[in-house]
Amino acid sequence: MFKIAVLISGNGSNLEALIDACKKNVINGSIDIVISNNPDAYGIQRAKNHSINYKIIDNNRFETREDFDKALVEELNDSNPDLIVLAGFMRILTSVMTEAFRNKIINIHPSLLPKYKGLNTHYKAIKNKDIYSGATVHIVNEKLDSGKIILQKKVKILKSDSGTTLEKKILKIEHQIYPKAIIRLLTSD
Ligand code: GRF
Repeated sequence: MFKIAVLISGNGSNLEALIDACKKNVINGSIDIVISNNPDAYGIQRAKNHSINYKIIDNNRFETREDFDKALVEELNDSNPDLIVLAGFMRILTSVMTEAFRNKIINIHPSLLPKYKGLNTHYKAIKNKDIYSGATVHIVNEKLDSGKIILQKKVKILKSDSGTTLEKKILKIEHQIYPKAIIRLLTSD
């Protein structure tokens, strides 16, 4: 069984989808640790609800991004995961993390990368009158939302869509493709 670490900053609906997929053995893995940089993240409660080990590493306690990443590396080395899954983790990682866990960190992003890296993706897609948006799972490297794409799924943007409705539709897709991408990664050589 593969060991998975999940890093969060907020609501944790993707975390919940992954917990579910592990419980149902859709993913042959267990979430051994959830790490949040935000002490108020609702995702912490989700970890507690499922008796999953969690740790808060508040980024505000660190002077530099590198120092914060060092604390992450230390914690992750203790649990020695096969895969580190960023699920709504709102921090840009430095090479301290990416070099310690090269090709082992993945992220989910609410756009059809390489379009719309960073924030406000739904707003940008609607403003540009795009026909499709979607979600992308990718490997994390030093550059924001730029690593190798593992899986992508698109959704049609309707004329009636607002940023909020599009966000909801894409989040649903995220919950479907994240477990699939993880299975693909863990079972590939
Ligand atoms: C998701 O849209 C994810 O793509 C983005 O942040 C959001 C997190 O949602 N990186 P949740 O915390 O998993 O509910």
